[in-house]
Amino acid sequence: MYCVFAIWSGKAEGLSIKIPYLADKQLMDLNERLQGRGVLTDLLKSQERDPFDKGTVIPGLDSSYKKNHYQYLFYVLTRMLLPKRIVEIGVLQGFSLLAMGCALKENGTGEIHAFDLFEKYEYKCDNFDDVASRVSEMELEKLVTLHQADASSVATFIEETDILHVDVSNDGQIVSEIFSQWENKTSQAMIFEGGSLERDKVQWMVEYDKTSLFDEFSKLSKIKTHWGFFTLQCFPSVTIAVRLT
Ligand SMILES: C[S@@+](CC[C@H](N)C(=O)[O-])C[C@H]1O[C@@H](n2cnc3c(N)ncnc32)[C@H](O)[C@@H]1O
Repeated sequence: MYCVFAIWSGKAEGLSIKIPYLADKQLMDLNERLQGRGVLTDLLKSQERDPFDKGTVIPGLDSSYKKNHYQYLFYVLTRMLLPKRIVEIGVLQGFSLLAMGCALKENGTGEIHAFDLFEKYEYKCDNFDDVASRVSEMELEKLVTLHQADASSVATFIEETDILHVDVSNDGQIVSEIFSQWENKTSQAMIFEGGSLERDKVQWMVEYDKTSLFDEFSKLSKIKTHWGFFTLQCFPSVTIAVRLT
């Protein structure tokens, strides 16, 4: 319902973007939670008028986040939270990675360590070298370090991070494992792809009898009281867990 307006609308002076999750009540709640660090909704609206990725490779990349313009959420959260370190697990072509990299460049501080199986993944993936070329093309190589590794091993060699982003064909079990590995290592926010009921019903989740992300986040929000959970519904949906204390 919120996501019907995920379109570019023509204007006399050019094209402008409509960010559909600006209408999501959970974004307002997240906005309140982050008050003091800037106004999330105002920053997103400014991306509608003047997107950071205009003229870059980012809008041309393959990503389930693209249709509903989630690159602006990653960019704005990184601008607001001013992380010293971000860890991303699940890179594909670099859509979310490059958005956060551009924000760090603008912040003038911070680094991203990005992990993926790359060509070792048997389903949809990209090559390490192709992603590295994109990082260089965008002059982000001083801020972004790529690593070829399995998601489950990352916590063994990263001690702490300010933001964690997890997007590895997520299901409820993966979220449960990653959350327990990272809850004491993450100082500000964990961002997970998924969390809506619609996302739980995608074909491969049903076919392979994967555990529900919706149920897992419902459970975590009851027992992890020092974290606040906010799920934006626009497909594929994104759940942001913010440390409250
Ligand atoms: C949905 S894509 C990531 C999309 C990306 N974040 C974006 O913004 O478009 C999932 C990625 O996770 C990687 N992947 C899947 N399972 C993994 C695992 N166990 N460990 C590390 N990477 C994995 C795949 O190679 C693929 O590139």
